[in-house]
Amino acid sequence: MNISAMLLVRRVHSLTRLGPLNTQRLQVAPAAASSAVRLWSSSRDDQRSYQRGHSPSWRNALAGLLAGAGAVLAYGLHHHKAERADTIRVQTTEKSSSLPTFSQEEVTKHRSLDDGVWVTYRGGVYDITEFVAMHPGGDKIMLAAGGALEPFWALYAVHNEKHVLDILSEYKVGELSADDLKKQQTVESSDPYALDPKRHPMLHTNSLKPFNAEPPPEILTDSYITPSAFFFKRNHLPVPQVDPASYQLVVEGLPGGVLKLSLEELKTKFPKHTVTATLQCAGNRRSEMNKVKQVKGLNWGLAAIGNATWSGAKLRDVLLAAGYGSDVAQWARHVQFEGLDKDVMGTAYGASIPVNKAVSEEGDVLLAYEMNGEELPADHGFPVRVVVPGTVGARNVKWLRKIIVSTDESSSHWQQNDYKGFSPGIDWDTVDYRSAPAIQELPIQSAITTPSDGAVVYRSAKEVTVKGYAWSGGGREVVRVDVSLDGGKTWQVAQLRGNEKGQGPEFSPPPGRAWAWKLWEVSAPLPPEVQELEIVCKAVDNSYNMQPDTISPIWNLRGVLSNAWHRVKVNIREDAVEE
Ligand code: MTE
Repeated sequence: MNISAMLLVRRVHSLTRLGPLNTQRLQVAPAAASSAVRLWSSSRDDQRSYQRGHSPSWRNALAGLLAGAGAVLAYGLHHHKAERADTIRVQTTEKSSSLPTFSQEEVTKHRSLDDGVWVTYRGGVYDITEFVAMHPGGDKIMLAAGGALEPFWALYAVHNEKHVLDILSEYKVGELSADDLKKQQTVESSDPYALDPKRHPMLHTNSLKPFNAEPPPEILTDSYITPSAFFFKRNHLPVPQVDPASYQLVVEGLPGGVLKLSLEELKTKFPKHTVTATLQCAGNRRSEMNKVKQVKGLNWGLAAIGNATWSGAKLRDVLLAAGYGSDVAQWARHVQFEGLDKDVMGTAYGASIPVNKAVSEEGDVLLAYEMNGEELPADHGFPVRVVVPGTVGARNVKWLRKIIVSTDESSSHWQQNDYKGFSPGIDWDTVDYRSAPAIQELPIQSAITTPSDGAVVYRSAKEVTVKGYAWSGGGREVVRVDVSLDGGKTWQVAQLRGNEKGQGPEFSPPPGRAWAWKLWEVSAPLPPEVQELEIVCKAVDNSYNMQPDTISPIWNLRGVLSNAWHRVKVNIREDAVEE
């Protein structure tokens, strides 16, 4: 169906729900309208068969996207529709002066696809029946059917964007009666993020609700252990309020039956282990990918990474206590985790890791209740989170509620339809999330934290000091960082610091268990007669994996796994002014 036919169909479909107006509008173009009605019904059939054909992955893809930043991405899927909305608005502006007024009672009658799906927003009434199938958050939209959108948009603040309002405006069919609007406004609107913890003002906030923030790069590498307050925070939902006294961790899927552990039991029945491990978000350095070509997702800089000491029980010990043994090893393939943070449908954040990693003595997977020697902060998963060293942040489930040993991966949106890498040639029209594995171990990474891009160095300083971090996933140790001041023509080797105490073989982690980053530094004389430096860094791990030199060949629509050589440009000024 071409766009104009679709637009007409949409108009007719909306109008068929408007009773008296219906006849009046249809008289405008009877021939077109009847063909449009035909087109509409075939389009509905198409939709149904499309959903059947692509279920469950298509629906899953939609289901989780509404949550948190996923919704940003999801609305991107409908970008073309938003563009269409511009055309539609031109056609429908005449509606606003003559729109009918509806009572809340009338709106409430439209709560199903058969009766039509109506919602209200800021006093407007919208017939979103057609949009339901396109909604990035899938069926969740039906929770608002017949009522106000505001409480739901308060949870997913990403909706408060112009392009989302543009899409909504396309479906406006009337105004809510003044009395009912007043009643709605007097109902206290509760903010699901009201109880989120206080955060350090120095953090750069990428999204407030849900809260996503990273520290300024120049302080990131000030200390080998990242203070919890500056550790990046990546939440998809409101931070759950957990009472440590009644908290219970549930372990399922093992022959011994369901094991339930209180926080006290987790702390006292299992040996406490401490692991220093770096956590990195799959979207770290996404903003650089964005500069090559727009991707969908939070615009992380280079600080969605941090290094902390984590203490808790080993997941392996808990699984063994719950009945894991050689018989289970025959069939078990994955260990799934569920958080206590839930979306409006009651769906918890979830992820899974391969069972081998979970039960391996050397895997060092922790059920952590401490971060940097203190109780886990609320933003980082209080009272218990999984820490999966060497593995992408997304699998390090916070506010851990349930562990399930299974033959299958987690069915959660974040395991199935997010946090996967694709070819640069794949776009939102062609992407098939089933075709790619979930990201687990991350690739080699390094970045320059100081100087920052665009910084000024005075000639009188005679040299420049460059600092940064380097890390590789899967326990692979960073063995070298190369730094160039001339865009990659010549290189020098940076000094590595892989420990709070020092560097050298005596401080090296056991092979395959290099979970923590290395900080690095190099000081080099300023090259004479050069006005600008292009500083570049690249790291090498002990499998001799190296970073790709440019972003284009690794560009992917979701902006994950962004690990190309990091480059910053620095200006050299002749006239130093000493302060
Ligand atoms: N666990 C739960 N329950 N909910 C979440 O939103 N975010 C994941 C992971 N675990 C998340 C979660 C993602 S995408 C990342 S990168 C890390 O937590 C971030 O951990 P941090 O906030 O402690 O830095």
